Amino acid sequence: MSENKIIERLPKHIAIIMDGNGRWAKKRLMPRLKGHQQGVSRMVGLLQYAYKLGVDYMTVYALSTENLNRPKEELAGLYDLIRTQFESAMAQLDKYEVRVKIIGDVSLLPKDVQEIVQKVEKKTEKFTGKGLNVALAYGSRAELVRAVNQAIEAGEKLTEESLSNLLYTGGQPDPDLVIRTGKEKRLSNFLLYQSAYAELYFSDKMFPEFLDEDLQKAIEDYSNRTRRFGKTDEQRREENL
Ligand code: IPE
Ligand code: IPE
Ligand code: MG
Repeated sequence: MSENKIIERLPKHIAIIMDGNGRWAKKRLMPRLKGHQQGVSRMVGLLQYAYKLGVDYMTVYALSTENLNRPKEELAGLYDLIRTQFESAMAQLDKYEVRVKIIGDVSLLPKDVQEIVQKVEKKTEKFTGKGLNVALAYGSRAELVRAVNQAIEAGEKLTEESLSNLLYTGGQPDPDLVIRTGKEKRLSNFLLYQSAYAELYFSDKMFPEFLDEDLQKAIEDYSNRTRRFGKTDEQRREENL
C-alpha cells in the first residue's frame, strides 16, 4: 500500500511499547546498554516518520515503574543515556513542532535527569500542533491510583471523563493503535485505561530493528480493521454516513 493510501485512515495517536533492546544486543554479543543506545536512535527515526505521515500524538514507553527494579548498572546506563541523548534526540523533532510531555512519576528519577526532561518540556510547551508523551518511571496502575487519590483529596466523585482527565494524558485523544515490539504479547502496565478500545499490534522484531516500513505495515494493518466500539456494523455504517 502506498503512503497516500494509509493516510486515509491514519491513527491520530499511536503508542509504542519499545521492547527488545536487551535481546537485540545479546544476540549480537553486545552489552544490553548498546541495545538501549540503538533503541534511542530508532525511536527518533520512527517518531520523525510518524509525524511526517501526519500522526498527531505519539506515546513511547521508555521506562516502566517496574523497570526501576532492574540491576543498578543497567539503570545507571539508562539514566546516562537520558543525560547524554535526550535533549539532542528531542531537538531532532523541532521541525515538527512537537510538544513533549513526560508521563510517569518523574520524582523517582535522579534529580539531574528530572531537570533535563523538564527542560525539554518547558522548551516545547509553546507547540500546539503535535504531541509526544515519553513514558518514564511510568506505570498505569500507579497513574490510576494517583488520579483516584487526587479526586478523594478534592472530595470529588469521579466520572469516566473526569478520571480520564486526571491521568497524565488528560485532555489528549486515547491511543488508536498500540504497538509492541519484541515478540511478547502483553501490555506490561502501559496505558491500561486509555487503551480500552485501542487496536493492538504485536511485532516479533526487537525494537532496534523495527524500521519505518514496519511502522507503515502496522498502520496499514490498523487501517484495515473494523472498530465497532461495542456496536454493530450497521450502526457504525449509519454513524459514518
Ligand atoms: C525495552 O527493552 C527497554 C526498557 C525496558 C528500558 P528491554 O530492556 O526490556 O529488552 P529485552 O526485553 O530485555 O530484550
Ligand atoms: C515494557 O517492557 C516496558 C518498556 C518497554 C519500557 P518490559 O521488558 O519491562 O516488559 P516485561 O517485563 O517483559 O513485561
Ligand atoms: Mg523487555
